[in-house]
Amino acid sequence: MATLIKGGTVVSSTGADPADVLIDGEHIAAVLRPGSHIAAAAEQGAEVIDASGRLVVPGGVDVHTHMELPFGGTFASDTFETGTRAAAWGGTTTIVDFAVQKTGENVRECLDAWMAKAEGNCAVDYGFHMVIGGVDNDSLKEMDLLVNEGITSFKLFMAYPGVFLADDGQILRAMQQAAGNGGLIMMHAENGLAIDVLAEQAFERGETSPVTHGYVRRKELESEATHRAIQLAKVGAAPLYIVHLSASEALEQVAMARDDGMNVFAETCPQYLHFSLEEHLGRPGFEGAAYVCSTPLRSRAEGHQDDLWRGLRTNDLAVVSTDHCPFCMKEQKELGLNDFRAIPNGIGGVEHRMDMIYQGVVTGEIGLARWVELCATTPARMMGLYPRKGIIAAGSDADVVIYDPDHRWTISVDNHHMNMDHSAYEGTQVTGHVDTVFSRGRKIIDNGQYLGRAGDGQYLPRGLSQYLQ
Ligand code: URP
Ligand code: ZN
Ligand code: ZN
Repeated sequence: MATLIKGGTVVSSTGADPADVLIDGEHIAAVLRPGSHIAAAAEQGAEVIDASGRLVVPGGVDVHTHMELPFGGTFASDTFETGTRAAAWGGTTTIVDFAVQKTGENVRECLDAWMAKAEGNCAVDYGFHMVIGGVDNDSLKEMDLLVNEGITSFKLFMAYPGVFLADDGQILRAMQQAAGNGGLIMMHAENGLAIDVLAEQAFERGETSPVTHGYVRRKELESEATHRAIQLAKVGAAPLYIVHLSASEALEQVAMARDDGMNVFAETCPQYLHFSLEEHLGRPGFEGAAYVCSTPLRSRAEGHQDDLWRGLRTNDLAVVSTDHCPFCMKEQKELGLNDFRAIPNGIGGVEHRMDMIYQGVVTGEIGLARWVELCATTPARMMGLYPRKGIIAAGSDADVVIYDPDHRWTISVDNHHMNMDHSAYEGTQVTGHVDTVFSRGRKIIDNGQYLGRAGDGQYLPRGLSQYLQ
């Protein structure tokens, strides 16, 4: 049976208009002018959902998640099943996760292992980027094959020496390869060698608490790496996408490159917009461990959060993703009780991105259309998923969220759906609520209930980034 979502305000990246949305099977059949003869005819034989007073937005596209990521002697606590279900609760209907290859490992075998983790388990559609942790002749050749198979973006690390770090020569070679095959290089831009020196020195001085993680991962070392990555991209003639940008100084580097006309893009994440080093990472005792992530949270006194909101308005920041990488406090974050260096890096937030960025609409930082653009349309275009994803338009997948813009509620570990024993957002009051979610035409969230099943989500081979074509 078809579904007609009637009476709502449909939001796209270009504006918000009253419209009715007709879903037929897995696709959007039509976006109709309310009151038109066609809209009236569409009601016949359809399930009609009254969306009056509510927003109708494309399902969110989160292009940076880490389900089951092995990190620091443990694994991110969300499986593809629990993490994608939580994503659905939060109005995200597509994720792009990172398959991981480390030095000495075979790229293809690693990708197969990640595919196996996800297959048959996801609540929403999913794709993969490939982490190239060991750049060598084999992995470079494999990049060409992967691009043709729908893995069109590759993450490199300038941080985590001995685990993921690629040196400048390796980075340049990977960029040259991407320049040749049309892929997009995604960069974790922090100077990991310098950070490790500062971290060891701090530890030897007896500074062991979580906040030290933020002090040693200095903003200069994010901006230096961002600058270096941009220069290498220029030499390699490759496009570049900076992940999880948190420092104003790194944003300045991106803005300068973009002003120069380079294909340099960047994302930030809700935690960098809403949290700070002082108020969150710097919490007493071991509480700050919940906020250990890399790049780190930045000082509010220095104004990074305001600069990031500005970057979202100017498009120097084009995407908001979550970098969802959850760890429980018990037995996971606690690995670093006596040494901040051993705290697994990551914050869980896949469920809260749409709501937390909507708070920017509530406070006037961004408009409704920009909210949708940052959380759905641009990520879909950036990662070769548009117009299948990221827009409500005839022919697109029927990934649709009915959003109540006035509903006020409080985030808590008691009402979230991520597999975590705490919430980094505990006690946060938000305005705006995901009421109903359709994933490829199937109603998977409604009336406070999850109606989907593990395995509903399909694998998405991706095209090239639209921003490079
Ligand atoms: O702290 C983070 N970001 N953990 C996940 C791994 C990464 O670097 O994205
Ligand atoms: Zn990273
Ligand atoms: Zn990440």
